[in-house]
Formats: sequence, structure tokens, C-alpha cells
Amino acid sequence: MMKSLALLVLTLCLASGAWAGKVGQQQGPQRHLVCFYDSSSFVKEGLGKMVIDDLEPALQFCDYLIYGYAGLERDSHKAVSLNEQLDLDLGKGLFRTVTRLKRKYPNLRILLSIGGDKDIEKSENAKDLPNKYLELLENPTGRTRFVNTVYSLVKTYGFDGLDIAWQFPKNKPKKVHSGLGSLWKGFKKVFSGDFIVDERSEEHKEQFTALLRDVKNAFRPDNLLLSTTVLPNVNSSLFFDVPAVINYLDFVNIGAFDFYTPERNPEVADYTAPLYELSDRNPEFNVDAQVKYWLRNSCPASKINVGVATYGRPWKLTDDSGDTGVPPVAKVVDEAPVGANTQQHGIYSWPEVCALLPNQNNAYAKGANAPLTKVRDSAKRFGTYAYRAADKKGDNGIWVSFEDPDSAADKAGYVRTNNLGGIALFDLSFDDFRGLCTNEKYPILRAIKYRLVN
Ligand SMILES: *[C@@H]1O[C@H](CO)[C@@H](O)[C@H](O)[C@H]1NC(C)=O
Repeated sequence: MMKSLALLVLTLCLASGAWAGKVGQQQGPQRHLVCFYDSSSFVKEGLGKMVIDDLEPALQFCDYLIYGYAGLERDSHKAVSLNEQLDLDLGKGLFRTVTRLKRKYPNLRILLSIGGDKDIEKSENAKDLPNKYLELLENPTGRTRFVNTVYSLVKTYGFDGLDIAWQFPKNKPKKVHSGLGSLWKGFKKVFSGDFIVDERSEEHKEQFTALLRDVKNAFRPDNLLLSTTVLPNVNSSLFFDVPAVINYLDFVNIGAFDFYTPERNPEVADYTAPLYELSDRNPEFNVDAQVKYWLRNSCPASKINVGVATYGRPWKLTDDSGDTGVPPVAKVVDEAPVGANTQQHGIYSWPEVCALLPNQNNAYAKGANAPLTKVRDSAKRFGTYAYRAADKKGDNGIWVSFEDPDSAADKAGYVRTNNLGGIALFDLSFDDFRGLCTNEKYPILRAIKYRLVN
């Protein structure tokens, strides 16, 4: 009896990878740094444009490089490149250029990611089309089609595996009706009709498990890797049967950021990616709660990578937003100026945030160029924000919640303390790959790496 129990425990340990962790402990446990690379950065204009020479200095720090993003072809259910000219073009296609980097960085494993909130199409009248990711799950023939085509993409272009960043429906953000009080009290209404994300989530959850099982079976003979990414604001409990799927996965990347964004929450600014729960907030909107959910559902700690963003989320402060900057900040608007490098509404890359913080160039600047005040929470639990109150005319107000090298390192510290697998960085192209901020390239990536291994 005791003997078979011991054997069972040993088998379980082996299955969960805990054994490998123990053996590795002589040289310190292995923590992974998973670097996401959004290839759409290759075709940007100006300082946001990132080419392969810009990417390379990052690779010495990454254990995995994940190329984003492939997508799905509607109706045919095929896995496809979202930009064939960029990804596939004979000779100089980026898929091959990137997987060839393994010759130079032999320890780097390179995966292709599918979905990732990048596979968005609008119909002619700009209405949202039915979610093709759910349509595929509902269709067994579609599933086979997907498995075959994704396997062929991965094999043909020399990837070491696949990351499935499935575009499940997201939690619906709360609307603010009057003042903050009603916003926070409103959480009890989560079960009312308005907040049902997907009426068939139970079916989709089972079908997703079947999909991962089929992909894993197709990959097994070639020893290809399989991971999944939980996209921000996707509710794991609705779509991931953790105890079932974890058997098929080498690791999971939890997109534990963007809990608040100007797009989702245009009227209230708040910490976008706190490590721990804040009082009077939804108790699920923090890294710790997301991680604990997977742990509680028997996911081995060693398979969990905590997602860390390399960017900030800006709101515009109005003259009604007050001048303390203390979050949550009400009476804001989703009208912060667009960043010069990213040229995207509602997001600032780390170098763009850095340029707004006090530095030599803006020390004496006024108005729209005056430096923001940076506020770091000294307990290192919630993250960092910076703000500039609106002037008397109601102009130049701004509030931005962001990750910087210090707060990112705090998250790496959390990973160590909790013996998790590592960090997944979203993504390299929003870190300071040019070294514009302090002359050092990839400061967020470096800060994470340093804390993970030391
Ligand atoms: C996620 O789904 C569960 C039900 O499975 C629900 O209790 C929880 O409130 C949801 N979380 C969010 C943030 O909507």
C-alpha cells in the first residue's frame, strides 16, 4: 500500500515536471523568459519600426521567442498567415528569417502564435462578424482542418512549436452611470443578462480541450512544443478546463494586464496590471488572482508564465478629474494624445512613457511638454503611474498606468517567490529596443531577466 502510494507520488511528480525542477535546483531552478515578437512592428514607419537587426540584441535574454501572429481563414477553418507578403515571401519572408535565427542562438526555441487579438476583421458596414474562433470549435471538420494546416505551417517554416492565443470573447467592461460609488457596487450584477460573455461557454470549453488534444497528438511525433496564451480579459474559468488542458501544454502564458484600458473603461482610469488586489476593485483584476486560479485548478506552478506588458495605457484628465492623480480617477476621457512612435490610439510604448517622465529634455518645459509626476507604490503591489493634472482651460491633462523596468522586475520577483515557470513579455517591439530612454536597449527585458536568474 505504502509502496504503491510512493510510486503514485513519484509518477505525479514526474508528470508535472516537478521532478525536473528538483534536479535543476542544484544550479538554481530554471525560470523561463518567453519573448513575444509582434511582427507587425516590421512594417511601421519611423522610430516604432523594428527590423531583425533591432530584434537580435533581445535574443540572448529569451528562452522562447514567440512570433505573432498567424490567424484563421473564415469558413475554411485554415490556419493562415495574416500578412503573406511579410511572413512568407520567397527567400525573405519573416517566418523563415526568424526561425533561421536558431543557427545563431541554438538554445532559443521559436514558436508561432495564432490569434493574439490581432486577427480582427470588420464587415463592410464595420459591424463585428461572428467569432470565427468559436465557429471553428463548434465544427469537428473545421478542427481537423485547423490541426492539419497549423501543423503544416509550423513544420514548413521550421518553428519549434505553436502558441494558441485563442480569441475567446472578453469580459464586458462595466459602464459607469453616475460617479464611482455605483461603479464599484455594481459588481454584484455580474450574473445579470448584460454580463453573459458567451451562452455556450461550457461547450466551447470542452471543444477547446479537444482542439488542444488534437494539436498535441499531431505534434507529438516531432516533439513540437505547444503552449496557450490566455488573452487579457478572457475569463479562464469560462473557457479553460485547466486540469484537462494542462496535460497537453508545455506552458501557459497568462495575459494578466490590461484589466483597465481607455478603450474598455473610457470614463475611469486605474492601474492596468496590479500584482495584488486593491480595495474596492474587482478581486479578479490582478496578477495574483489570475495565477491563483490556475494553481487552484491543479496547474503545476512550473508551467505558469506571468504575462507582463511593455507598455502603458493613457487617459486624458479633464478639469473635473481633480489634481491628486490617485486612482481610480473619474471624469477622464479616452483622448490622450497619440504616441509619436507607436502611432496607435490608447497605448504608449515604454520609450514613449519614458520621454514623458522627468528627464533632461523636459526639465523646464511647460504646458503640453511639461514632465509628468511619477508615482511608484512603495509596497510594490500595484504598479506605477504618472500624471499631469489639466490646466485651468482643461488642457494637457494626462494619466498613464505603465510597467517600467522596476515594476516588471517586481513581477519577476513574484514569479520566483511563488516558484512559477517564468515571465511572458508582451512584447519586444514596445520595449525600448533602440535604447532611447537610458541608452540601454531592452531595459524592461533586461530587468526581468536579471531578477529571474539572480
Ligand atoms: C468569470 O466567470 C466566473 C463564472 O465562471 C464568474 O464567477 C466571474 O465573475 C467571472 N469573472 C469576471 C471578471 O467576469
